[in-house]
Amino acid sequence: MKGIILAGGRGTRLYPLTLAVSKQLLPVYNKPMIYYPLSLLMLANIREILIISTPEDLPQFRRLLGSGEQWGVRFEYAQQNQPRGLADAFILGREFINGEPSCLILGDNIFYGTGLSSQLKQASALTDGALIFAHPVKETSPYGIVEFDSDGNVIGLEEKPIHPRSSYAVPGLYFYDSDVSEIAQKIKPSDRGEIEITDINRYYLSINKLVVAPLGRGIAWMDAGTHEKLLQVSNFVQAVEERQGLMIGCLEEVAYRMKFIDKEHLKILSKQHIHTNYGEYLRRLVELNV
Ligand code: G1P
Repeated sequence: MKGIILAGGRGTRLYPLTLAVSKQLLPVYNKPMIYYPLSLLMLANIREILIISTPEDLPQFRRLLGSGEQWGVRFEYAQQNQPRGLADAFILGREFINGEPSCLILGDNIFYGTGLSSQLKQASALTDGALIFAHPVKETSPYGIVEFDSDGNVIGLEEKPIHPRSSYAVPGLYFYDSDVSEIAQKIKPSDRGEIEITDINRYYLSINKLVVAPLGRGIAWMDAGTHEKLLQVSNFVQAVEERQGLMIGCLEEVAYRMKFIDKEHLKILSKQHIHTNYGEYLRRLVELNV
């Protein structure tokens, strides 16, 4: 299974252009936003990852993340010249995907909760059809929304409906079989001028190959795509980390726990963050013998 992170698109800049940084590079509390979706792919045991961003921002992602070797993974990078929509990730990523199943995660989507990594590992075994998730939200308007019949079967999907048929939104985490690039190529732009991931999902639904898995209420899904949400998610991460003394989205830790790197390597990485709480956390991990 290949992984793709879309870190660009419409509204990628939360601050004036002169600040020249896309939101996925901004910190969510104590680490760059993109670390969170990246950690999720790694927890799903996905080690080949394509990072898609704008021509202006891609060099900064490269500088931050490098080849991936330091975390036992491999990154490739691709430019998206225009924000053409989420489905474009599979057109841009066609060569990278190279006929394998793939997982797309949005660079501003953050997930946290019990059971998530086993759910992800299961999802990454997908070879046929599509798997997406559904999660309850109070504010439905920014999302793709699932429609169920009275037996709880999925009968429809709508992108940002004015009159939503449920309060279940589709988070920005999608698993597809190897047909997805071909399907994406056939999608026509929507009224907002984008090729919609919802149309890909609808296609899989129409051929009875879409699984919509519930993400239970014990799992937090947040997108950090606006000023308010950026602050909320930062506060959430800070509160959990402060209480537990465990980090969310610490790539060095995930790489180590997934056995992508060994303890010696973790020790070397910890020295790169010396004099910060992040470095202190890594140093403790090395010493703890866990
Ligand atoms: C996109 C998708 C939408 C999904 C959302 C999750 O919205 O189109 O279906 O629910 O991501 O964050 P967009 O970011 O394009 O507005």
